[in-house]
Parts: sequence; structure tokens; C-alpha cells
Amino acid sequence: MKIQGGIPLKGTIKAQGAKNAALPVMAVCLLLKNATLTLNNVPDLYDISTMIELVEALGVKTERTKDVIKFNVPDEINFEAPESIVRKMRASSLALGPVLARCKKVILPLPGGCSIGSRPIDLHLKGLKQMGAEIEIKNGVVYATTKGKLRGRRLYLDFPSVGATENLMMAAAFAQGETIIENIAREPEIDNLADTLRCIGVPVELEGTGGVRIRGIEYSHSGTERVIPDRIEAATYILAGIMTRGQITINDIIPAHIDAMLAKLEEAGARFKIKKNSITVYPVKRLKPVSIKTLPFPGFPTDMQPQMAAALSLANGTSMVEESVFQSRFLYAQELNRMGADIKISRDVAVINGVEKLQGASVRATDLRAGAALIIAGLAAKGETIIEDMVHVWRGYEAIDEKLKSLGAKVELA
Ligand code: UD1
Repeated sequence: MKIQGGIPLKGTIKAQGAKNAALPVMAVCLLLKNATLTLNNVPDLYDISTMIELVEALGVKTERTKDVIKFNVPDEINFEAPESIVRKMRASSLALGPVLARCKKVILPLPGGCSIGSRPIDLHLKGLKQMGAEIEIKNGVVYATTKGKLRGRRLYLDFPSVGATENLMMAAAFAQGETIIENIAREPEIDNLADTLRCIGVPVELEGTGGVRIRGIEYSHSGTERVIPDRIEAATYILAGIMTRGQITINDIIPAHIDAMLAKLEEAGARFKIKKNSITVYPVKRLKPVSIKTLPFPGFPTDMQPQMAAALSLANGTSMVEESVFQSRFLYAQELNRMGADIKISRDVAVINGVEKLQGASVRATDLRAGAALIIAGLAAKGETIIEDMVHVWRGYEAIDEKLKSLGAKVELA
């Protein structure tokens, strides 16, 4: 993507459906037999296409019309996920729980690490074992089986992992009796998954204290659900507006989902107006420096850390950004520094000395959110920025070029 920076963004856009909500709710179809799941507001992204490929490889037929996907699930599905698909996307591991619950077996290659850290799935596997699964890992492939049904029981997650919470909630749908999972992730995507499980007949109760209670069922039925708005996409555009000193409105969002970021932006002196389903940002000269630590929801999201660091690179002073969720999520810093930012990394902390201006440069997106950070930096920078490896960005941002153009940005795909 080629960007001519320095133009204040102006206008209104609407948030896409959330990638990270759509992926697990799509996996819910694997719990159906001779039934359909219809999902509305599904974004058009590489990762969504990969999930479609995965469920199709497992035997599900899909029909996609605009942002609606209908999953037609036959009586029998396959229990072996092809490595060529799993390798493309870590979220393929979301097939583990539902396929095991439904087929009593699953074979799934381990998704492997990525540029933001090693990303094991030990918590997913530990929970499934506690529910009675026998699990072996041979040559990087997970073989899980269960004699009869999985057993409902009380589980405790050592860390509130989003993926482990989702996999175990889906596995619990057909377990014998009740499963209670404590210390679960409480990201909004988990509520969307709970609603989707309920729409196919699984009784799910989310508890305020960080637990979930799920009663195993015999039969699921067809259902329809809507994917929630993408809080990370919306928050990225909000920062693009702030960094370019523009005035933009993002519609179709749930402001409460980005409370942590809004609180930090307020502390940094940003100006915005929140309505029920929209946010408008207004121009301010320079942000004040703030300190941030990423945490599970409702803490500051790790998926906004690179974009927030990009915004703080133009703040009037020194900010500290601590990453506590992933091991190595600062690869974008050296790319931002090529654009004139002053970011020093020491273990889990980025020390960001705000500069007055960024300059366009040729930079590389090392992962999805790193790419987003570089794009918003490019929009604010003087001159031309070229973002290489946009493939990462297409995993999570629908029509980002079109959306930015509609806000007056000069961007072009090479
Ligand atoms: C999801 C999101 C991702 C986001 C992350 C944290 C999707 C598709 N992806 O990823 O965008 O950045 O939540 O909000 O929804 N961990 C273990 N063992 C496990 C599971 C996780 O050690 O079994 C560690 C991970 O390595 C990581 C941390 O826990 O350091 C958080 O991971 P997790 O919450 O599971 O994230 P994902 O579900 O992979």
C-alpha cells in the first residue's frame, strides 16, 4: 500500500463485523447435525475465508451472500483438519473442541507460533484432558479421542486465554452434565460465542465473576446470530483520525467495548464524543504522553498496543507501553523508527519519546496489528509511505484502502 501522508481524515465510516468474534462463532457450526447456522455481519477477510475453507474441508457446505454466511451441516462430518489450512491461521485450533465433542475424535496439526510469540495451546488441551479426552501429540499433530461423551466438570484456566475459553465452551456443549469454567476470558467476543451457542440450543450462563456454566445437550438445532462490531478495527480508525488531526465518525460500534482505550485517550487529551453506537473524534494539536499496560479484557487490549504506540510516537513527551499478554509484540517499533519515531524496547516495555513529525518511508508489516500501526503512522507522516507485506493486514481489515479513501486519504494498492 502506498500512502501520501499528512491529510487530516474527514468523514464517516462504519465498523465491520469483528474478526475475532466471527471465527469462533463460525466454528459453532461444527456442533450441528442436519441443521443450519446463519451468521450475519460477517466481515470479508482472509481469515474468514480460511475458516470457511476449514469447515468445508470438514464436510460443511457454506453459502455466502454479502455479509451473511449460511452453514449447512450434514449428519456426519470429518474429524481430520488438513494441515495446509491449519498452517494458514492459528484460529484453526478452534475446531478442536467442537469436533471432539461431536465426533468423539479429532486430528488437528498444531498451529505453531507466529511473529508475536510462541502461542502454545496447552491450556486448551489441559481442559479437554480434564473433561476425559485422551490426547497424544505426534509429529506436531494433536490426536484427541474420548470414549463416550466428554465429562462436564469444574475447570479453572491458569490464564484467561481467549482461545482456550472458546474451545472449552464449545467442547462443553455435548458433555455429560454441567461444565463450569472459572477464570475465563471476558472479552466481548466470548459473549457473542455464548449467544451463538444459545441460538443452537446450548444453555450457557456467563457469570459476572469470570466464570461460565454450560449444560451439555443431546441435540442442537438450527440458529441465526449476528457478529458483534469489530472493536479493534474501530479503535484503529479512531487513532487514524486523531493522528491526522482529522474529524471522523465511526458508526455501528459498541463504545463500551473500547472503554480502556477511550480512557487512555482521554488521559492523553484527545477529544471525542460518544453516542450509543458511534464515536466522533475531533482534532487536537498533540497528545500528552501516557503509560499503558496490556491486559485481558477489560484491560487495555494487546491488539491495540501497536496502533496506540504509533499514536504516542507523536505525543508531547515520553510514554511507556508494557506488553503483558504476548512475548514479542514490538517488531513494529524498528519500522516506526524508520519513519522517524523514537522507540526503545527493553524486554516487555517500549519507551516512546514523542517526536513532532513522522516521515514517510518504506516499511514492512510484520503481523496484522503491526501493519495497522504502520498504516496510521503513514497517514500522519510527511511524504510517501510504502507498506510491504500487506497480506497480514488483509487478515483483519476489510477494504481498508476503500475506507481510508472515503475519509479523504491518498492511498493506493500497488
Ligand atoms: C485471541 C485473539 C488475538 C488476541 C488475543 C489476546 C482471536 C482469533 N485472536 O488470540 O487477536 O491478541 O486473543 O486478546 O480471537 N496461552 C498459553 N497457552 C494456551 C493459550 C494461550 O500460554 O493454551 C498464552 C498465549 O501464548 C498468549 C496469551 O496466553 O501469550 C494470550 O493468548 P490467548 O488469550 O489464548 O489468545 P488467542 O486466543 O490466541
